[in-house]
Amino acid sequence: MRIAIGNDHAAVAMKLELIEHMTTMGVEVDNLGVDTEESMDYPDIAAAVGRAVAAGEADLGVVLCGTGIGVSISANKVPGVRAALCCYEYHARMAREHNFANVCCMGARVTGHELAKAILTAFIETPESEEERHHRRRRKMEALDNAR
Ligand code: RB5
Repeated sequence: MRIAIGNDHAAVAMKLELIEHMTTMGVEVDNLGVDTEESMDYPDIAAAVGRAVAAGEADLGVVLCGTGIGVSISANKVPGVRAALCCYEYHARMAREHNFANVCCMGARVTGHELAKAILTAFIETPESEEERHHRRRRKMEALDNAR
């Protein structure tokens, strides 16, 4: 599995821990930045990760900012992206199983690093549901992309 990860200045330390965690899980990681705490605009990095996922260059994406909110709003503007703000492992499991989320968003100022690793593990390991009702809902979400 290949995962693209990106973050703004508020989440550099969390991103580095999550890269190490994913590497120990055997995940191939594309670090799209940023790696300094100099102020930057989170829509830029959310767009870069979202486009990598939408283009099939990565199987899943991870985007981090202070709250996780800015990157989730931004990543969801990229057609083909279903980004989910995950604060609990349950969010991550349901986001994958029911919502077919392909980008996991977390907030470095609200979620501790150990919890973030557990959330990301759940996001990576939970399979998508095979139940038709969830696929019907995914198709309706995709139709919203196409209606823009
Ligand atoms: C940056 O200060 C902060 O606004 C950003 O990291 C994020 O929390 C936005 O949603």
